[in-house]
Amino acid sequence: MSRRRQIYEGKAKVLFEGPEPGTLVQYFKDDASAFNNQKRGTITGKGVLNNRISEYLMSRLAEIGIPTHFVRRLNMREQLVREVEIIPIGVVVRNIAAGSLSERLGIAEGTALPRSIIEYYLKKDELGDPLVSEEHITAFGWASTHDLDEIVQIALRVNDFLTGLFLGISIRLIDFKLEFGRLYTDDEVRIVIADEISPDNCRLWDARTNEKMDKDRFRQDLGRVEEGYREVARRLGILPEGGPVDFKAPRLVQ
Ligand code: TMP
Repeated sequence: MSRRRQIYEGKAKVLFEGPEPGTLVQYFKDDASAFNNQKRGTITGKGVLNNRISEYLMSRLAEIGIPTHFVRRLNMREQLVREVEIIPIGVVVRNIAAGSLSERLGIAEGTALPRSIIEYYLKKDELGDPLVSEEHITAFGWASTHDLDEIVQIALRVNDFLTGLFLGISIRLIDFKLEFGRLYTDDEVRIVIADEISPDNCRLWDARTNEKMDKDRFRQDLGRVEEGYREVARRLGILPEGGPVDFKAPRLVQ
């Protein structure tokens, strides 16, 4: 890891001061956590894969005019991002019932939803990231009605675009979580996508077999977790020949 000044350490990533003002370096760890940090583990190679997958998806989104904090990938585990003021709300978009929606409402996992559903979660570890409503968000000032309008528009565009992108490689986008931030420039404030978009925060099922290719493999102890992430990268066409090479440890030369 580099010797830059650390700004923040999360469960799966570390943020460092960037090389220029207004930038940060986002470092992807192999650490995984679930169920509000009650389950922890390591998925070897996950950081390298998520760095690449998130780079790829955010770049494709930028090409169709969806603003993100991503600037460029720096190396196997780090990317340069713009510093934003994080909005403390996780925005989940769901197409197929799974996870907490299935548990909360008793809807069988795999049921197609009548339309895409957006949910908001307050990012607060001590409270286990509770589900909140638009009323809570605006009343407590976490985001304005105007911010939310923009967030919903972006989230639905991302959903349409990524649904098609993944379907093209025979993957069903079941649901995903986005984070947003405010990007301050000289004369305006823009809402942009922050954090990452990867199998850590998307549910991705093989379109033919419904096999899970995301963090549910870790949450549910399904095994072959890294393989799921690697297969997503392989289908996206971003896996270097021979798999990702991480220069963390010397390799045995025979
Ligand atoms: P959920 O069904 O557990 O509420 O998760 C919905 C989506 O949000 C799923 O794709 C996983 C993602 N997610 C995160 O990225 N971080 C979280 O802390 C949680 C709870 C879910």
